[in-house]
Amino acid sequence: MSNIDRDIDRRRRAVCMQLLGGLAGIALGGSARARPSVDEAAKVFRLDGAGVTYAFGVNKDGQLQSLYWGSALAPEDRFPTPVPVWENSSNETSTVVTPHEFPGFGGGVTMEPSLKVTFPDGVRDLVLKHVDHRVEGDRIVIRLKDVSRAVHVTLTYAMDAATGILARSAVVENRTGNWIQVDQLAAASLNLPYGDDYRLSYLTGRWAGEFALQTHDIVPGSIVIESRKGVTSHQANPWIAISRGNTEEESGPVWFGALGWSGSWRIHVDMESLGNIRATAGYNPFDFAYRLKPGESLASPVFHAGYSEEGFGGASRLFHRYQREKILPGAPAPKVRPVLYNSWEATLFSVDEAGQTALAEKAASIGVERFVMDDGWFGARNDDKAGLGDWVVNRKKFPNGLAPLIRRVRELGMEFGLWVEPEMVNPDSDLYRAHPDWVIHFQGRPRSEARNQLVLNLARKDVYEHLLAMLDRLLKDHDIAFLKWDHNRAWSEPGWPQVAPAEQQRLYVAYVQNLYKLLAELRRRHPNVEIESCASGGGRVDLGIMALTDQVWTSDNTDPLDRLLIQDGFTRAYTPQIMMAWVTEAPNFVNKRVTSLEYRFLSAMQGGLGIGANLNHWKEADFATAKRLVAEYKATRKTVLQGNLYRLVSPQHRSGRSATLSVAQDGSQAVLFAFLHASGMRDPLPRIQLRGLDPKRTYALRAIAGTAAPRTPRQASGAYWMGHGVQVVLAGDFQAAAFVLDAAAGPALAIPG
Ligand code: GLA
Repeated sequence: MSNIDRDIDRRRRAVCMQLLGGLAGIALGGSARARPSVDEAAKVFRLDGAGVTYAFGVNKDGQLQSLYWGSALAPEDRFPTPVPVWENSSNETSTVVTPHEFPGFGGGVTMEPSLKVTFPDGVRDLVLKHVDHRVEGDRIVIRLKDVSRAVHVTLTYAMDAATGILARSAVVENRTGNWIQVDQLAAASLNLPYGDDYRLSYLTGRWAGEFALQTHDIVPGSIVIESRKGVTSHQANPWIAISRGNTEEESGPVWFGALGWSGSWRIHVDMESLGNIRATAGYNPFDFAYRLKPGESLASPVFHAGYSEEGFGGASRLFHRYQREKILPGAPAPKVRPVLYNSWEATLFSVDEAGQTALAEKAASIGVERFVMDDGWFGARNDDKAGLGDWVVNRKKFPNGLAPLIRRVRELGMEFGLWVEPEMVNPDSDLYRAHPDWVIHFQGRPRSEARNQLVLNLARKDVYEHLLAMLDRLLKDHDIAFLKWDHNRAWSEPGWPQVAPAEQQRLYVAYVQNLYKLLAELRRRHPNVEIESCASGGGRVDLGIMALTDQVWTSDNTDPLDRLLIQDGFTRAYTPQIMMAWVTEAPNFVNKRVTSLEYRFLSAMQGGLGIGANLNHWKEADFATAKRLVAEYKATRKTVLQGNLYRLVSPQHRSGRSATLSVAQDGSQAVLFAFLHASGMRDPLPRIQLRGLDPKRTYALRAIAGTAAPRTPRQASGAYWMGHGVQVVLAGDFQAAAFVLDAAAGPALAIPG
């Protein structure tokens, strides 16, 4: 196929998609209103919403079997009772090749189980069968039970009508008269239609290199992405997207999902022997065991899964909307992010009243709304070797406490924010000297330090209560509007000697549950305090922590070019509403790259804008540039943070350029960012065709930074900007431009079609 043929083919497919979409809309007549439905005769369950249908049923063996997940079907479409897949041979029995919704380990299951348990008598066989079901509002609740033992499982399927995103979770309950041990528990297993042209995308990384996009074919075998670290991790993020052969950024099917869990997690993606594609997501079974006494239960995290026919862009726009409207504090309308200043890169641990006050005064002069003092303000904290755990103000640095600094920050019209790392302790601290048993460790074994610190065992009641009291006091005693909540190391030696050996591995769940409880309780007591999730940068970003924190620190890597790539990866999974990005020094501390202040701003203005540069190094012109761009940001941030994001030109695959467009939900404004990494061979930047505008409205184009080609109209229809595009003038290295398009009031243009 030539390029031209390919292009025609692509357009033909796009037109077909549009037609199909239109027809589906007519046939379904507002599927957004559809509710979960049960066909009692066929024992088939169906959830419909926002152009998506998910169906499953009870087969003749009483097991839950997947039927369909994809674009919306007509309400009249009926599924027959599912039939287990025929045995292929004695090596591929029916049990193994049937697409189960929630297989227990037992009855011959050799694929990845959703639940595996051990009984006191050594039995490890669990065969779950349907008991009953009910519809509750937007959800279907299914109860399963083992064929002979009183192990009960409750599955919840809740579909969001606005996005078609399904939240799946499971609760296992021990109603036997003895303990049972849960060895493995997933939120869900999800099956896709058979096919050999699937591709998996996921995000991996490391410190200062988070959210690196990986995409490769799904072939027979398994791909496992996971964290074994007790925290979400930099190494992999609990998000996946599965596409098919022709899927592109703005077209083609994408099944996607993310696990809401901030501890060790695992997602298993399998292509089984007969070509079935399955994803199983839940607690990481690595070193996992959770003993349930009679009457106790264990809930899985929630796996949030969606489907889009509009490529990766469509998938992420749906997911962003879902996060804003369903997950984040303040949902369905979380507040836009205040412009913040953070002291870390400017002063490191050398914070004191005079220095921070001087920075605050300069920050206020450019329009910063929230001044955040980072590490170094407490205990004997002069570097990372001591003081963590001692959350008392360092009187050498702040002889009169924090009050004078906070007062000045407030006088300057800003909010005050503070860095904390509550879950950690330096062995060189009063807290550790008083409570050496409070850390995660094995009795009598070495305790591995990382950044000279150990992890407090938050699963312990006394540690939980200590942290709650400490943070509550800090917030009561000071006028604090924001906490940057850090977590700077992974777990090691995950022992919990205070409890019996058979109970110790509950740590993996109990710790995270208490973390969530602590955050929720602090928010309840201090409803006006906002919290940022940070873990040496983006090591704790997931839908679990997102429900309790207002924003995340994306990466310690603040180089604006590296950030374009990190942000591109990040937004595939998570909304720009939470994605904090700072303007820092040039050369950047990470890679010594030198870029202009304007370039640094435009890179950071695609998320929640922060300034982290040492303002004492700035010249008058820098303050003027910053002041202007902060004002531009404030005028456009709602669109950038909460609009529809189009990754028009991705920086992935060593692309020399990139561009994003954010379009306000009501179509009244759009913001375009364009970047050229390096000029070469007089390579002109192609016209950038916009997306998502209202074709019949008139939009006025105005440059925030950079210029459009001569003779670019000052205003034109949405159809023009999308069809013809904007020719941006960019030449040189590390160049950036940004434009705002504001819709004019007035009648729609008479554009045919
Ligand atoms: C982590 C964070 C940084 C900074 C330091 C302070 O590395 O990611 O932003 O807060 O800790 O020690």
